[in-house]
Amino acid sequence: MSTETAHTPNYDDAVTKKFLIASVTWGAVGMLVGVICALQLAWWPANLNVPWLTFGRLRPLHTNAVIFAFTGNFIFAAMYYSMQRLLKTRMFNDVLSQVHFWGWQSIIVAAAITLPAGLSQSKEYAELIWPIDIAIAVIWVVMAVNFFGTIAIRKVKHLYVAIWFYMSMVITIAVLHIVNSLVLPASATVSYPVFSGITDALVQWWYGHNAVGFLLTTPILGLMYYFVPKTAGRPVYSYRLSILHFWGLVFLYIWAGPHHILYSSLPDWAQTTGVVFSVMLLAPSWGGMLNGLLTLRGAWDKLRTDPLLKFWVVAITFYGMSTFEGPMMSIRAVNALSHFTDWTIGHVHSGALGWVGMAAFATFYYMVPKLWNNQLYSVKAATLHFWLATIGIVLYVMAMWTAGITQGLMWRELDADGQLQYPNFMDTVLQLIPLYWIRLVGGTMYLVGLLVMAWNLVKTASGVAPKDGPEQVTAAPESLPTPAK
Ligand code: HEM
Ligand code: HEM
Repeated sequence: MSTETAHTPNYDDAVTKKFLIASVTWGAVGMLVGVICALQLAWWPANLNVPWLTFGRLRPLHTNAVIFAFTGNFIFAAMYYSMQRLLKTRMFNDVLSQVHFWGWQSIIVAAAITLPAGLSQSKEYAELIWPIDIAIAVIWVVMAVNFFGTIAIRKVKHLYVAIWFYMSMVITIAVLHIVNSLVLPASATVSYPVFSGITDALVQWWYGHNAVGFLLTTPILGLMYYFVPKTAGRPVYSYRLSILHFWGLVFLYIWAGPHHILYSSLPDWAQTTGVVFSVMLLAPSWGGMLNGLLTLRGAWDKLRTDPLLKFWVVAITFYGMSTFEGPMMSIRAVNALSHFTDWTIGHVHSGALGWVGMAAFATFYYMVPKLWNNQLYSVKAATLHFWLATIGIVLYVMAMWTAGITQGLMWRELDADGQLQYPNFMDTVLQLIPLYWIRLVGGTMYLVGLLVMAWNLVKTASGVAPKDGPEQVTAAPESLPTPAK
């Protein structure tokens, strides 16, 4: 039986459970849509000639579902779970927690209806129409009041570094979302941005890049600083480094947005600022990666048997890889090759499937046995999930890197007369089709792994006796191990 829940009955774990179930459910839906998008890119008739099944409508449905529904609900579940335990207090207000949960799910349902219907603001990751944008702002403020209220009533003075990372998400996403959603409504579903031209593009990518930074990165680093020491039963390698990691990351991230609009009409100095800050981002990112990996020192032997640690090692390694690749892609000469190609899609998914997804799975496998007071039903199934996901990511990302570089090189290839060697767009597309099929196989494996996890977690939650022997479940210490200096 879990020691945590036995000693701390007063935490609001009901809301954590709801966010967790929502994340796994929406994750399955969002990734299924991703698989359908991948199939359509390999074999276009898969859109069945139905308007709401076409790629242009399903793609934003996929991105919104995996970013805001899968990742959003995962972060909220882990945040509600860990912050109550770190601050040794129940959430500030249960009603606010419920409003946050149901409000967020209603927004997701509204997105799932409006996007396939073709209602969109056509700004990436900010497609939702203005009434939904207002709902997002309101629900975010509800969460922020609950979050800061909980900090105010905390029973411990020290704010562990995880809370600082969560705080940066709560504040920054609110500012980004509100500024990027400033529009003049023309009807219930149509609006016009208040910014125009390159200013609009700059604001959009200041938002877009920091949605990656403050939703797909910082909160997950925060929960890494809680769940990795708990899973490994080791103190975080260096607490000082984690503080440096935090301040370095939040200071640098916010300036890097212009790397999305290089070679545009954005003034050169602004583009260069984006490039310089992106390259500097490598330092805190790798500091954080090393801090995560070194926390596992002395626990490497557990890797052979403990699937949770396996997931964490791959997650942190992919964090390191994508935060190396990102700064390289922001250098103008490299971006000239990678921009508009599948290389970007490879980079996105090495971060999304490798870092975000694997961290989510490790966290779910940790939380479900604790929240439902049972042992993990099948360690073997969790290990199978690990291999399906890992091989799936490698297939997906390798295929996209190859496709991207092929595409980039073919577009710029000149013949002996200095004319384009491949003037027809179809020339490149035909080269990419086999790689799109490989991506489809990788993505399908990743989705099947997620379904195996869902089945395993349902069995665990319903209290079915563990299949593979009780001794194999991670033994987590009761409280967070004291950090080293
Ligand atoms: C089964 C797993 C997945 C599959 C098969 C998949 C497939 C796809 C496909 C086919 C695209 C469109 C690519 C294009 O336009 O050329 C895409 C875009 C995208 N996906 Fe996924 N995806 C999966 C999981 C995820 C997850 C878990 C996340 C985030 C947490 C994610 C985030 C994104 C983003 C942000 C884009 C837009 C990228 C860009 O515009 O550069 N995907 N995905
Ligand atoms: C040091 C960290 C990082 C830097 C400097 C960075 C830099 C970049 C660059 C230069 C691009 C291509 C822009 C373009 O040509 O249009 C890009 C795209 C992208 N990156 Fe990163 N990246 C980093 C980390 C990450 C991580 C960890 C993730 C995911 C968890 C991620 C998600 C994305 C997404 C979703 C896009 C596609 C945006 C779009 O065009 O729709 N990045 N990044």
